[in-house]
Amino acid sequence: MRPWTNKSVGLGLLGLLLIITSACLYFLWPVIFHHILQKEMPLSPTSKAFEVWNDTSTLPPMYMKIRFFNWTNPQDLRVKGQKPILEEVGPYVFREVRQKADVKFHPENNTVSYFYRRWWHFVPELTNGSLSDPIMQLDTVAISAKHKVRYRDEMMQSTLSFLLSSSSVHIMKTVGELLFDGYDDSLIKLGRLATMGEDIPPFDKFGWFYMRNGSTMFDGHFNMDTGAADISQFGVLKKWNHKDTTPFFRSPCNVVEGSAGEFWPPYRRKDEIVLFSGDLCRPLTYEYTESTFHNGLEGYRYLLSEKTLGNNTRRRYPHDQAKYFEPTTTTEDFFEAEHSSEVTDSPDEDPDVVNIGNCYCNGKCTPVGLMNVSSCRYGAPVFVSLPHFHRADPSLRERVVGLNPDEELHDFAITLEPTTGIPLKVSARLQVNVLLEPSKIVSLYKEVPTIYFPVFWFTLDVEATDEFVDDLKTLLSLPDVFRYIAVILFLVGSLTIFTVALLYLLSRQRANSVASDKATKPRMIVSAGNKSELMYLDTTEGADDAHVRNDRRLYPSSIECFNMDLQSKLRQQK
Ligand SMILES: *[C@@H]1O[C@H](CO)[C@@H](O)[C@H](O)[C@H]1NC(C)=O
Ligand SMILES: *[C@@H]1O[C@H](CO)[C@@H](O)[C@H](O)[C@H]1NC(C)=O
Ligand SMILES: *[C@@H]1O[C@H](CO)[C@@H](O)[C@H](O)[C@H]1NC(C)=O
Ligand SMILES: *[C@@H]1O[C@H](CO)[C@@H](O)[C@H](O)[C@H]1NC(C)=O
Ligand SMILES: *[C@@H]1O[C@H](CO)[C@@H](O)[C@H](O)[C@H]1NC(C)=O
Ligand SMILES: *[C@@H]1O[C@H](CO)[C@@H](O)[C@H](O)[C@H]1NC(C)=O
Repeated sequence: MRPWTNKSVGLGLLGLLLIITSACLYFLWPVIFHHILQKEMPLSPTSKAFEVWNDTSTLPPMYMKIRFFNWTNPQDLRVKGQKPILEEVGPYVFREVRQKADVKFHPENNTVSYFYRRWWHFVPELTNGSLSDPIMQLDTVAISAKHKVRYRDEMMQSTLSFLLSSSSVHIMKTVGELLFDGYDDSLIKLGRLATMGEDIPPFDKFGWFYMRNGSTMFDGHFNMDTGAADISQFGVLKKWNHKDTTPFFRSPCNVVEGSAGEFWPPYRRKDEIVLFSGDLCRPLTYEYTESTFHNGLEGYRYLLSEKTLGNNTRRRYPHDQAKYFEPTTTTEDFFEAEHSSEVTDSPDEDPDVVNIGNCYCNGKCTPVGLMNVSSCRYGAPVFVSLPHFHRADPSLRERVVGLNPDEELHDFAITLEPTTGIPLKVSARLQVNVLLEPSKIVSLYKEVPTIYFPVFWFTLDVEATDEFVDDLKTLLSLPDVFRYIAVILFLVGSLTIFTVALLYLLSRQRANSVASDKATKPRMIVSAGNKSELMYLDTTEGADDAHVRNDRRLYPSSIECFNMDLQSKLRQQK
């Protein structure tokens, strides 16, 4: 090899290498980034997220704010033209701490099993009122009892009617009693005695959060994917109470699916996300609405909307989920079968497409905007909606006075950072309603209007801290940094190759002119680009043998003459 080619070829190769590296960086970076996510994100006892997932008490406080509807005119219930007047009171604020109990990792199938434990601590400083505020409400216990016997024989209903003869439809209890402390009710004790082996609540008192403080028995047993094998399954609930279906809704609405509530797989799209709520015993679908910015970081905002609240959501259940089409029975099915006129809508072309609004009815369908959770509440006529019947059938709020739905205050929204799926903001808001319905036999409820009666609503707002958002921004800027590096490498590489090519062309040109000028003399020229480099210039092409070359350099013309001489002689001989 000659020194000239040696160096420039080396330089050219370097340029090529730079360009290839830059292309690799540019196009393989998503793959590299994916590997980083796949390695860093999955939940394990040693992962970063584990500590706060296991116990949120070290995080900034999370507040659950509860607002009650105080019924101010119960005496007017049967008066024609009078609607119940509801006055919103509160908020009553509790600091919520979430913990996991019995956490067991199962590396063999990449899941983790656990129970949920929640603690609530009353925060008087943030509360508007006190836990001893009296609230006028529907008597939920009596209504539930009436609801449960509604398809039973007349004997039973008359007995209940007699038991309730001295009661009223409404009841005044304090906020504390209605929430965590619970209150005694003679009907509860009676119910426990009278209905053996039935689906009745295992409690001696009634309160919406009675016995829930610090308990693990309410939300159920979770089996969640850790994402270790496939990050797209990160945080997805695999089994709830040891099964992949629930007994609370009809197939295929009984499927356990969606996120367990804390983690979301990366690469979110602008379509929808699904969350499984152990509280409501069902998955909830959130639809993408808009992109928002948190301290400069983009997030996708998903809302609880028609797909969950509507009654005409069609969904495709693929054949591999066909097992979910097996009939399941809820405790109420037995009675419901004869009494409900189930909606039969026009059959779809595709037998796999199901109107899930239909199977969530669970019997009689409700107006749009309500979720029937009776089966998940021991058969009590409890219905969950957005606060103030936001995004619900307007007829619901027209039955009462005092509801003013507001997008800002009453939407249930989840905002996720799209690349990592990390939640930036969650505003959980739901309202609990009890169905008041007339009864022909139970005299207390004769001729009452049918009203989905709002009881209380809560909001739980959690937002990522600024420091966290900044850290996340740094992580997410890595791809950009690498892209810039790739572009710079590409430019340097191209420049190198360009220079080498230019030098080569220049030297060729000069060599040609020199060769035509003074072909008989050996030449030494100095490269323009590299002053210290001496370049030898050959006037002939051919053998690379060192000796020959040396000779040739010294006597190029004579060898050529000799060669020509020889060739002409040979030709002549032929
Ligand atoms: C609720 O309304 C009742 C009257 O119906 C009233 O006595 C009570 O003070 C009200 N409670 C609150 C917290 O305003
Ligand atoms: C506190 O509650 C009262 C009624 O109970 C209401 O008029 C007032 O606006 C509330 N204050 C706040 C800050 O919410
Ligand atoms: C829940 O339990 C904790 C610990 O026993 C207690 O400090 C807290 O006051 C309880 N909260 C309520 C609302 O009773
Ligand atoms: C994973 O394995 C554990 C332990 O064997 C089991 O309890 C759990 O149900 C399994 N989860 C799935 C999704 O198969
Ligand atoms: C709600 O669900 C219960 C229990 O599954 C069912 O009996 C009832 O018909 C459903 N609908 C209404 C409006 O109560
Ligand atoms: C769906 O909801 C709308 C509005 O509440 C109602 O008019 C319609 O009858 C419902 N359809 C079914 C099938 O329940």
